[in-house]
Amino acid sequence: MMNIVPLKYEDDRLFLLDQTKLPGEEVFVEIKTAEDIYDAIKKLVVRGAPAIGVAAAYGLYVSMRGYQRGDISEFLDLTKNTVDYINSSRPTAVNLSWALKRVLDRIASSRTVSQAKADMLDEAEIIRRMDVESCLAMGELGLSLLKPQMGILTHCNAGTIATAQYGTCLAPIHLGQERGYDFKVFADETRPLLQGARLTSWELEKAGVDVTLICDNMVATVMKEGKIDAVVVGCDRMAANGDGANKIGTLQVAVLAKEYGIPFYMFVPTSTIDLDTKAGADIEIELRAAEEIKNLWYEKQMAPDRVKAYNPAFDVTDNKYITAVITEKGIVRPPFDKGLREVMNRK
Ligand code: MRU
Repeated sequence: MMNIVPLKYEDDRLFLLDQTKLPGEEVFVEIKTAEDIYDAIKKLVVRGAPAIGVAAAYGLYVSMRGYQRGDISEFLDLTKNTVDYINSSRPTAVNLSWALKRVLDRIASSRTVSQAKADMLDEAEIIRRMDVESCLAMGELGLSLLKPQMGILTHCNAGTIATAQYGTCLAPIHLGQERGYDFKVFADETRPLLQGARLTSWELEKAGVDVTLICDNMVATVMKEGKIDAVVVGCDRMAANGDGANKIGTLQVAVLAKEYGIPFYMFVPTSTIDLDTKAGADIEIELRAAEEIKNLWYEKQMAPDRVKAYNPAFDVTDNKYITAVITEKGIVRPPFDKGLREVMNRK
């Protein structure tokens, strides 16, 4: 399966694959400080909910390990401040606060500063390994819903570099590729940051998958033409009632899938399920700079200077549009409130 990863921790140094440079350049940047990891998350050097969580956990460790004094309570206070700072980099994906909280909970009982540092690193590695295993499990479960030769539409990138490895909704595509399923995948480009064009088509093409790139406004057409048998997408935060926030544009894909009778599968590791958030309306949606719409990928600015631009980075797909939620612990079907609670309690 896919051996590309978004993060490397080697010889005590943390490196992130700079996803803003893909597909043109595959370069890693080193993360040394809290500011480095904050910026990397904010600027989408590392992106995708699970990958953000894993990177934040390692980033917290590398930014705290330079602490020299032996005062454990001061160390815990400083770590808590650093967690609040890193948490403020992006609001929507719950994996960020989930991973940082795991690290804080883990070190709460550390007796010395050196023990706390070792525990932090150990917890980051546990989070990374858990994510790899969870992606593999979602790959198998997801594949059980798909049939050979299917046409599959995906939005944004919930692939290997959006996770610790293998991806959430792209994991079954990679597994299917190994097992001769011969899927025909359609990746929409995912304006404005083009994760579909720059990342998904790059990743699937590298894996030898039959992938076709379309513009976001062609989704209805390929569905109407009968080219799509299933939609697979990732998630940034799923509320207790099954409403799922994901990359802007997911909602319109889901609404169209319902109209054309196409199953819509959302891949949601339990680290992305937030039972403390009741419904989609309670999820904070990140607003990003107008510049991303007006000129980021253009040689020349493509909109008048003074025009206003509205750039929400995510939208919420209402649970009524979701056919099934694929977690690493099982597939959840409506009613989601009951099913999600059950799956969260499963060992
Ligand atoms: O803004 P991004 O690129 O971080 O948004 C990513 C997505 O919306 C993904 O679909 C989601 O995080 C799931 S990644 C497995």
